[in-house]
Amino acid sequence: MRILSIETSCDETAIALVDIEERDGTTKVSILGNTLISQAKIHEEFGGVFPNLARREHQKNLVPVLRQTLSEANLLKPTPTQNHSHILENIRIVLERESELLVEFLKHVPTIKNPEIDLIAVTNGPGLEPALWVGINFARALGTLWNIPVVPCNHMEGHVLVAMLRKDNEMNDKEYILCKAQYPSIALLISGGHTELVLMEKANSYKVVGETKDDAVGECFDKVARTLGLPYPGGPEISRLAEKARIKKIAPPEKLPRPMLNTNDLDFSFSGLKTAVLYLVKRIGTLNEEIIAGIARETEDAITEVLSKKTKKAVEKYGARTIIIGGGVIANNNIRNEFGKTAMKLGVSLLFPEVSYSTDNALMIALAGYVNSKNSQSPNVVIKANGNLSIDN
Ligand code: KG4
Ligand code: ZN
Repeated sequence: MRILSIETSCDETAIALVDIEERDGTTKVSILGNTLISQAKIHEEFGGVFPNLARREHQKNLVPVLRQTLSEANLLKPTPTQNHSHILENIRIVLERESELLVEFLKHVPTIKNPEIDLIAVTNGPGLEPALWVGINFARALGTLWNIPVVPCNHMEGHVLVAMLRKDNEMNDKEYILCKAQYPSIALLISGGHTELVLMEKANSYKVVGETKDDAVGECFDKVARTLGLPYPGGPEISRLAEKARIKKIAPPEKLPRPMLNTNDLDFSFSGLKTAVLYLVKRIGTLNEEIIAGIARETEDAITEVLSKKTKKAVEKYGARTIIIGGGVIANNNIRNEFGKTAMKLGVSLLFPEVSYSTDNALMIALAGYVNSKNSQSPNVVIKANGNLSIDN
């Protein structure tokens, strides 16, 4: 099955073209094209993602990203046929509210030969609603033009599924296998908007058993970075400085709190950590490179300890056999290493994505689209953006 997937839930405009097939009892995934434009630089001056700006950028980026993806897949060919005017009229209606995108769409897309895909998968939540709508309407416009069904996908389910990919052959970064986890599994979802422990009793079944009471872990990384005068997104910056501090044996100026580390539930809280850094920085007054690196190290250590201890508790409580970790924060090296040790000690398997597929991408949405279509979710239902869409079913 050939799937075109579209992701616009936050500040990444991403489109992938993926072939997914069951062969000899395994799910084979071939990446034919995969393109992403990050808006991080544009949002940097706001210290976070500004929804209407993201929406405008997605409108600008979607057509070039589509063309690049099709071109990589060798499917960017001129059409020999004329599009019927009633189809173009329907596209005008679908893209009525995305006027910039409509202009780009009509200029370029009807001139492309139908790429003969089976399904269009698009993120419909969770995320920033103005940003989600652009992707959804673009997907519907493509579906109308090419007469292809469109399925809505849950962004967080995408993060879980992409963690289950393994290279089919070490030398080839286009061919993957979608692993089968052993259930029950515990999925830890850690991103800019989410911090959740999810119980999976079987494949594609999700029950949230713990979550953050306030800030998400990625948000905590980003806000601490801002307090330390580091650019957005803060996670990678904190991670880089923390690693430097460990190598140079720079100690933190003070120990930071590990919020809710020893509570009996599976919930998290990160706003106290962020505030503790804010007060510490105020007390110190003038920061230097060494102090910043020391605080970055201690922040990362506090976060890592809380995530690993709570996940361990969830694994023990539910007798889980696999830990699956998804979301941008699992790009973090220290957290990856710590979970390697945690899983080993617990005697469970550990699945997490390649660093490049940890943060938002469209490959993960193609996987979610595949799973949804197999579970006979009827395509072409009315698709609506839902900023708070939960993974829980
Ligand atoms: O999943 P994602 O790309 O977008 C959302 O769905 O939110 O996650 C983005 C988050 C940001 O908060 C970013 O700072 C964090 O992931 N992040 C990291 C690292 N790379 C990205 N956090 C810690 N260490 C990293 N290396
Ligand atoms: Zn994400």
